[in-house]
Amino acid sequence: MHSFGHRANAVATFALTILAAMCFAASFSDSFNSPTPTASVKILNINWFQKEANANDEVSMTLNISADLSSLFTWNTKQVFVFVAAEYETPKMR
Ligand SMILES: *[C@@H]1O[C@H](CO)[C@@H](O)[C@H](O)[C@H]1NC(C)=O
Repeated sequence: MHSFGHRANAVATFALTILAAMCFAASFSDSFNSPTPTASVKILNINWFQKEANANDEVSMTLNISADLSSLFTWNTKQVFVFVAAEYETPKMR
């Protein structure tokens, strides 16, 4: 009546149902989280600035970067990618 196959099927179904419910709960709970990361970037020094032959510019500078990313880390966070993008303008195109 209750063969090994039936019992294994019942256990596997129950385990997968619990796993699906936990995945849904983990995903749904993240919608109540509103992270508020803060960052400040200060240029401490421009070490050198040079024009390259291919019309690009290359700059070496010393930055002071302070960031509070603690609000990003919840139990649902796997990885956080942080990068700095810099833009500048010149008065005229070369
Ligand atoms: C960098 O910034 C932090 C916070 O704004 C400050 O405490 C620290 O003294 C600064 N470091 C330098 C080298 O300016």
